[in-house]
Order: sequence, then structure tokens, then C-alpha cells
Amino acid sequence: MAAPVASPRHGGAIVVVHWLAAISILALLAIGWYMVGVPVRTPARGYYYNLHKSLGIVAAVLIAALIALRSMHRSPPLPGSMPAWERRAAVLGHGILYLFMLLAVVTGYLTPSFSRYGPKLFGIPLPHWGWDDVALRERFADAHRVITYVLAALIVVHAAAALKHLLVDRDGVFQRMLPGRRNG
Ligand code: HEM
Repeated sequence: MAAPVASPRHGGAIVVVHWLAAISILALLAIGWYMVGVPVRTPARGYYYNLHKSLGIVAAVLIAALIALRSMHRSPPLPGSMPAWERRAAVLGHGILYLFMLLAVVTGYLTPSFSRYGPKLFGIPLPHWGWDDVALRERFADAHRVITYVLAALIVVHAAAALKHLLVDRDGVFQRMLPGRRNG
């Protein structure tokens, strides 16, 4: 079997923000799916909803930071062994992933904006982008649900592609997103 090829890495800040965003999004998916099944008007439901909203704001900051860092720094070149279709698929896939991360955050913020509970960050009330309107809240909650399901599917494809680079192609692309010395 061929030895893994060394490939230039992403910068340290991108690596850290990428993994923090990944952890926060996975936690949001888990808490989100769990909390909607918690009986209504119980302290536990309020606790998980507030935790989800707060973590959602943290994720929004991380996603914004990731997009800013990616636009400020050119990605290291992909290995020449990667076919052209795979390079195009990677660029398109990452673009769609960023789009759905942003849509998840925006619809997530809009959902409590149209309820009397409102968006909160660890107990601190944040600006409402709307007013108390049950029908609109339900619309945004439905949109948020569909978008987060699509986001979860995109994350599965993204992780599968990363593992293919690590285990099948062994071309160093996975290692580019790990902490370590830049070698390019
Ligand atoms: C990447 C970011 C986010 C992800 C991945 C995410 C994920 C989820 C998931 C999986 C659910 C459960 C959907 C269902 O099965 O019904 C959910 C519900 C919810 N999320 Fe998020 N969320 C994110 C951001 C946010 C933000 C920023 C807020 C608000 C500040 C928020 C507020 C809510 C609320 C209020 C619900 C409950 C909706 C309902 O009652 O049906 N989310 N989220």
C-alpha cells in the first residue's frame, strides 16, 4: 500500500475554527432532535431550548469566522492526483455546506423571534427579528427542521468524502485539516 502523501495544510486558525464549528453543529443536531420530544411546559424543555438557542449563537459566530477566514486565505492546492470532477465536486459541496449552515442559523434565529420566548444567549435576551405570531413561528420552525435535515445529510457526505481521502486515496487531504506544522 502506498505511503500517505504530505500535502500543504490549512492555517492553524481555520483548523481550530473548523473543528469547533463541527462540534457545535453536531451538538446542535443532537440537542435539537432530543429537545422537540421533551414534554411541553416542563423545566427540562425550557432548559434544552435555551441551551440550543445559546449554542446556536456560538455556532453562528464560528460559522461567520470560518467563512471570513476562508475568504481571507487561499486554500492550499489540492493534490494533482485528484481528478478534475472531484475538485469541482469539492468546491461545489463546500459552497452548499456553507449555504445550509447559514440557512440553519438564520431560520433558527427567526423561529424564536416570532415567539414570546425570544432568542437568548445563556439567559440574556437578544433582539427579536419579529413579533409574537404562532403561525409564522411554525413556518420558520418547519423551514428550520427541513434545512437542518438537509444539513445533516450534507455533513454525512462531507465526512464520508474526508474519510475516503484518509483511508482510500491516502493523499494527505484529510491531514490538511488537522493541527500540526504547515508543510507547504
Ligand atoms: C447550525 C446551526 C443549527 C443547527 C444544526 C440546528 C439544529 C436543530 C434541529 C436538528 C432541530 C430539531 C428540528 C426538529 O426535528 O423539529 C432544531 C430546532 C430548533 N432550533 Fe435549531 N439549529 C441551529 C441553530 C439554531 C439557532 C441559531 C437558534 C436560535 C437562536 C435555533 C433555535 C431552534 C428552535 C427554537 C428549535 C425548535 C423548533 C420547534 O419548536 O419546532 N437553532 N434545531
